[in-house]
Amino acid sequence: MHLSSRHVPARVLVLGLVLLLGLAYCSVVDKVALPRYVPSAETRALGHPTFAEVREAERLLPQHRAPGRWALGGKGKRGRYVYFPWEAWGTGWNNVFQEQLLNTHLAFRADRGYVFGDYIARDHPPFSDTLPNGTRSHLHIPMGAFTSGPTGGGAWGGREKGRPRGISRAWWDVVCKGRKTVLSAPEMNRELAIGPETSGADRMVRWGAKLKDMEAECVEVVDGTPFDYPFIITDKPASIWDWPASYGASLTLTAFRWSALVTRALIRNHALFAPSLPTHLRPSLPWHWHLRLLGPPDLGSTAAPLPLSAVPPLTITAPPLTGLLALHVRRGDYQEHCPNLVAAAVPYNTWNALPALPDRRSPHSEMHAHCFPGVTQILAKIESVLKTERKFKVERVYIATNGDADFISQLTERLKTTFAVPVASSRDMRLTPEEEAVGQAVDMAVLTAAEVFIGNGWSSLTSNVVQLRLAGGRPAARCRFW
Ligand SMILES: *[C@@H]1O[C@H](CO)[C@@H](O)[C@H](O)[C@H]1NC(C)=O
Repeated sequence: MHLSSRHVPARVLVLGLVLLLGLAYCSVVDKVALPRYVPSAETRALGHPTFAEVREAERLLPQHRAPGRWALGGKGKRGRYVYFPWEAWGTGWNNVFQEQLLNTHLAFRADRGYVFGDYIARDHPPFSDTLPNGTRSHLHIPMGAFTSGPTGGGAWGGREKGRPRGISRAWWDVVCKGRKTVLSAPEMNRELAIGPETSGADRMVRWGAKLKDMEAECVEVVDGTPFDYPFIITDKPASIWDWPASYGASLTLTAFRWSALVTRALIRNHALFAPSLPTHLRPSLPWHWHLRLLGPPDLGSTAAPLPLSAVPPLTITAPPLTGLLALHVRRGDYQEHCPNLVAAAVPYNTWNALPALPDRRSPHSEMHAHCFPGVTQILAKIESVLKTERKFKVERVYIATNGDADFISQLTERLKTTFAVPVASSRDMRLTPEEEAVGQAVDMAVLTAAEVFIGNGWSSLTSNVVQLRLAGGRPAARCRFW
């Protein structure tokens, strides 16, 4: 009697607490104003991946819940946002992504949440997108399929305090309904005295100050963007890297994470670029324990992949993959493209022109060999990099490439015989259709994590790898170009 009378209240207390927590949780989840994603008839007809898990995670981001409590950064207000619907329309994903990362930093400087949308694969679609009646239905890839970092609404690397997080386009439409302030980019450039000669740093600083000073909570920039494609392909952006624009040290880059989808592909394919699964790529609870208890780790297959909730998104500050030499060998359309780039004296792409990098574009040397190197030239460059990076011992090679099977097997054989190490390429990756849709990002995650990287100075893919490597702490001497 005595005992139970002491125990019953305890049990009731626990039960009550569980019920309360449950209710609190439900009240939060119930407040998600965004509807669940439903794939269109066209998506289903084409058999395109729907990114259902990614979209559901995006819908449930804390900042997409009850506005007052979860706006993050609004401090009791409704939150401040900036949306750039004109971001690099129609260019390849890496060009768009360069602009999106810069705009995330701009939004941060303006004390506003960055608004992110789907990437629409108009250029180089990864799957056929032509309907039976001949119309195209573009593949839409959610931002969360590429990155879980600040650009995809992710955390600011634990340094959150009062910093607004990014929101999805869908949530922008809900939370900013009927109170959007539209700003014309060309008009704003005139007001801020920004012209073709203005440095990248000045652009970032002036736009940031302007957007910060504005009272309006929801600002939409139209008819252009602050860092448009013609600006990005010049050598102007380089000055944004250091103080006063300070992009290179920004939380946009240092808190960058690849998506869980990209990381899952790395976990399954880790044998292509690492001797064993790196600790920081181990799937998390409860799968981790499940795997430990049941013997050899089950890392999922393409038919039965790991649930994305079990995958820890890879950070760029994680330890490098020791002994890995990663190459970006751009082929395909570059065969025709390179003579034009060389003839027009096009500078190295965006971040590839940062002054800290050892390999500069030289106007005097044989540029075609740098843009479209053959097997012999690739081998020669590797030898010269190994000569200067004496502390680096090559233990395996990964080649990110869109080259054809013949070329890759020639290159692979030469590398294997020369260095006596395992060699793998993009073609060896085993990917689900959703991972294949972001296959470039999967390759880039390997290139970013590698101890030494050699890429193509004109390529925006290489350029994005370079900025993430530098921001993640890899030495400039280990970011090289053919
Ligand atoms: C082709 O089919 C799609 C999907 O049914 C439809 O939306 C589109 O209007 C059609 N286009 C033409 C030209 O008939």
